[in-house]
Amino acid sequence: MNSESLNRAFLRVFPESGDDAAILEVQAPGRVNLIGEHTDYNDGFVFPMAIDRVTAIALRRRGDQLIRLYSTAQRQMAEFSIGGPVKKDPPAWSLYAKGVCEALRQKGHTGLGADILVESDIPLGGGLSSSAAFEVATALALLSAWGQTMPPVEMALACQWAEHHYAGTPCGIMDQFISAMAKAGHAMLLDCRDQSYRQIPLDDPTVCVVIVNSHVKHELVAGEYKDRRSQCQAAVAALAKMYPLAKALRDVTMPMLQEGQPSMDPVVFKRARHVVGENQRALDFAAALQKRDYAACGRLMYASHASLRDDYAVSCPELDTLVDLSRSISGVFGARLTGGGFGGCVVVLAKKEAIAPLTQVLEREYPLRCGKNPGIFATAPGPGAHVVRG
Ligand code: GLA
Repeated sequence: MNSESLNRAFLRVFPESGDDAAILEVQAPGRVNLIGEHTDYNDGFVFPMAIDRVTAIALRRRGDQLIRLYSTAQRQMAEFSIGGPVKKDPPAWSLYAKGVCEALRQKGHTGLGADILVESDIPLGGGLSSSAAFEVATALALLSAWGQTMPPVEMALACQWAEHHYAGTPCGIMDQFISAMAKAGHAMLLDCRDQSYRQIPLDDPTVCVVIVNSHVKHELVAGEYKDRRSQCQAAVAALAKMYPLAKALRDVTMPMLQEGQPSMDPVVFKRARHVVGENQRALDFAAALQKRDYAACGRLMYASHASLRDDYAVSCPELDTLVDLSRSISGVFGARLTGGGFGGCVVVLAKKEAIAPLTQVLEREYPLRCGKNPGIFATAPGPGAHVVRG
């Protein structure tokens, strides 16, 4: 993202002082999850990386309590006051920022207001965590404006709180965590139980990560997401008599699950089977990547997709088509849906030389089969949120 054009856009929207020396700029990346899907809220393992697309914020301090926000994507202004009530019918996107402001305040971080311009090159609502990037960028920008700091893990948790309480999505910790903590050239194996993590290099010049946007958005995502969460809790509850120490599906093995199967609703059993298998796949993937065994990584990705489709039921025909088409290309190691599902994106791990034939086939076949154009781009693991100009 270009700093100069961000600055110019800021001065067009907030020309008051005309002085760009006072403008602060931060960036926070979107993410793609390589494997470990729907495991974060089960205290399990995820393996995301930051993408090289970001949400950028330009900010100028104000002398009052007002936050004025302009989103170039929404072409809309919003405002709220720090510590004040939520106004009637605020633009939905602005609630993320209000939520972050409140989360910071609860942790003892606050200060004066600001004028803020938000710009993003992350496809919005495409399952690449544009909202987490916005939250993390807002938190970092406000803290910088106030001359305060917060450990990045705390910041990620504050942003997750904002998403739960102001956007109404009971998400796990993966998206905010990777946006705040990513390291360029690395993917991150994160243990969502204790938030310990390992940065694992993903910088082989012959290999690439390709993201394919299905351009499908599912209306029911939020409700389905909540349902999956409660089905996972139901599975743990069904095992409680036999295994009182199992607090989350993270603590459950396949033999334990099979033992508990008779006391479980069949749908709940399938949901749990996905999570238990996916936790192991995330660990196996990290080990395979460390050995640069991309073929093994790819097999795990296909298995993850099949499990998300058949057991967890969060895929859709368009995502399945994209995975099947990718699989037919020589040099593609693996592909799977990434993020919550029901639309959004597929992530493909491939040899660099496979990008051209992959693009060609997807651009030709996907519209024929699904009536839409795919959005295809190769990406590399980018850095986490940072101040560009303080
Ligand atoms: C969404 C949530 C994440 C995670 C994924 C599924 O992206 O925000 O916390 O649960 O779905 O892996």
